[in-house]
Amino acid sequence: MHEGWSAAPQRPSGRPFLVWAVTLFAIIIVGAVMYMIGLRGGASAPTARVALTPALPISFTPPPDSAIPDGPSGAAIRRGQQLFLHTRANAGNHVGNGLSCSNCHLDAGRQPNASPMWAAWGAYPAYRAKNDQINTMEDRIRDCFTYSMNAPASPSGKAPPPGDPIYRDLQMYFFWLAKGAPTGVDLPGRGFIDLNPTTLGQDPARGAKVFTQSCAVCHGVDGQGQRDASGSYAFPPLWGPMSFNWGAGVGKVANAAAFIKANMPLGQGYSLTDQQAWDVAAYISSRERPRDPRQTGSIEEARKRFHAKGDYYGQRIDGDLLGDGIATVR
Ligand code: HEC
Ligand code: HEC
Repeated sequence: MHEGWSAAPQRPSGRPFLVWAVTLFAIIIVGAVMYMIGLRGGASAPTARVALTPALPISFTPPPDSAIPDGPSGAAIRRGQQLFLHTRANAGNHVGNGLSCSNCHLDAGRQPNASPMWAAWGAYPAYRAKNDQINTMEDRIRDCFTYSMNAPASPSGKAPPPGDPIYRDLQMYFFWLAKGAPTGVDLPGRGFIDLNPTTLGQDPARGAKVFTQSCAVCHGVDGQGQRDASGSYAFPPLWGPMSFNWGAGVGKVANAAAFIKANMPLGQGYSLTDQQAWDVAAYISSRERPRDPRQTGSIEEARKRFHAKGDYYGQRIDGDLLGDGIATVR
């Protein structure tokens, strides 16, 4: 088969049994998916999953998995997708925490306003202030390994080296997700929503209450996530040794607040007020997590260089000096 779109599924042309069978099959699939979502949420997780997402402009719809082509390209796309979904299992040498790419880039990198990969693909190469150079897509992926996946604590101690097949497969997957999307355009749905600051400002203490009420059921009362029987995380850790490190983008309160507002609690995006989103993001950012790989000198020096605003690094919160890598409280 040639690479490209697979044929659209055939309608069951006027054969009542087939229509009936297809309908029954669809009901079973939908039922099974709902059951699995329920299981994932655990017994006490919220059961009502109302779609609260307001009608935001969605600029582009990536192709369905059924359209992944056959042949070597399709194989690479599938490997990239598996890397994205189960990062530790497929790139364990470079993963130093309990996360997968898709824990933040939701729905396997498809979800608008959760930094979707179809929107990222056509935006590189690009200048990035974070490292003051032109970044290729490979460079950008490497950064998420270094910070969001905490590669310094992985067996190899670093992100995959330049040209590694891990980058090639991930890029094949993104390229395929973006099939037909324009390049060089900041597509609506890219990155996170714009969340305005509130008049009250952000407060970790208020955020702690939001966390207990709306997040702890899945992420654990101590924010350390919950593992399934196989030992991998069904609910990812939000802080602590198995979470992203102090250099990661979600460590900044504004990024975390915007992600949370649109996407959390999972399945109930936009259910928190802006105030709650800011406060709970502040709470998460005020807990200890793995050290910032960019820190070479003192915590204070790194605080001034990389954390002058946007998070609580280098501050003492609830008696814990953040950034020293030692959690005195959680
Ligand atoms: C802990 C959450 C988290 C995890 C895990 C994570 N990322 Fe990211 N990623 C982010 C955030 C936040 C941004 C945007 C950062 C910013 O704006 O500074 C981002 C941005 C990106 C971008 C650029 C998006 C754009 O539109 O420019 C790519 C590509 C990317 N990540 C790939 C990956 C890959 C591949 C993995 C897994 C190896 C991964 N990320 C894991 C949080 C995460
Ligand atoms: C119903 C269960 C559930 C609830 C409740 C929930 N989350 Fe999540 N959250 C998840 C899951 C599951 C993921 C990973 C998504 C994936 O892999 O598809 C996630 C991912 C995240 C992430 C990115 C990954 C990471 O480890 O940092 C953040 C941040 C987050 N949630 C914050 C929150 C906050 C804040 C709340 C409360 C307002 C909340 N969540 C409520 C299930 C939940």
